[in-house]
Amino acid sequence: MNVYITGTDRGLGLALVAKFLEHGDTVFAGAYGIDLSGLMQLQERNGTRLSIVPLDVGSDDSVAAAAAKIAGEVDHLDVLINNAAIIGQKDATITDALDFGDMLAVYNVNALGALRVAQSVLPLLRAGTKKRIINISSEAGSMAARVRRGQRTRYAYCGSKAALNIQSILLQNHVAEFGIRVHLIEPGWLRTFLASKEKCTLAPTEPEEAAARLVAFIERDPPPDAMFYDLFQDRPFDW
Ligand SMILES: NC(=O)c1ccc[n+]([C@@H]2O[C@H](COP(=O)([O-])OP(=O)(O)OC[C@H]3O[C@@H](n4cnc5c(N)ncnc54)[C@H](OP(=O)(O)O)[C@@H]3O)[C@@H](O)[C@H]2O)c1
Repeated sequence: MNVYITGTDRGLGLALVAKFLEHGDTVFAGAYGIDLSGLMQLQERNGTRLSIVPLDVGSDDSVAAAAAKIAGEVDHLDVLINNAAIIGQKDATITDALDFGDMLAVYNVNALGALRVAQSVLPLLRAGTKKRIINISSEAGSMAARVRRGQRTRYAYCGSKAALNIQSILLQNHVAEFGIRVHLIEPGWLRTFLASKEKCTLAPTEPEEAAARLVAFIERDPPPDAMFYDLFQDRPFDW
């Protein structure tokens, strides 16, 4: 399969690149940051099956340039994984100073970024065999879970993931006619860099474990009611 993954410098994205390469696939890895050491190591071991593509999902130009580079190398994509995300302000409530510029950036990357990237490679996905768009969402995007938790913080992160969820429904309503399936994945609480500069050590799960489960999820052709899916509970997530 030809697989395109965003946000692959580290965390879940890098683990997904490694897992798909291990699986024998060809991977286009969207690289955003300056530390590409993890990707470079994978490239040394896998050669031309890994193509590192500069990518800022928040930029129209960058997304278009990445799509053009991929289209220059292959005539189809089987799987797109929109994984890139940022968390923004974490602890501010409505009685604190809210940083609206930061919030716009979070929405632009987490929600619009996924739509931008999906649109940029839609012709390649239509030409593919597997025809999957996997949007890495979060329990943070579940309205039901937010009500249950009585949450008062993370306006941008939760709002952007809820926006990603509803956007994915609109996308699925259309791309079904091309045979494409869209999934939203809650990947579990992971030992990654999302919430801080240091790798999170409190979280129970290594990103490699989530990556292995996601590759298996894609392989096994999940049922249609698995659109918003909890990877570790192995069941649909409530909206
Ligand atoms: N960690 C968790 O517990 C958890 C829980 C639920 C859902 N998720 C979701 O899982 C996905 C992966 O997150 P993670 O935990 O692996 O976080 P992470 O370690 O922070 O990785 C996020 C990746 O996205 C990249 N990125 C940031 N801004 C970007 C941009 N504008 N364009 C392209 N790439 C960009 C980062 O690059 P740099 O490293 O260079 O900044 C990094 O490689 C996200 O969608 C997140 O919302 C995570």
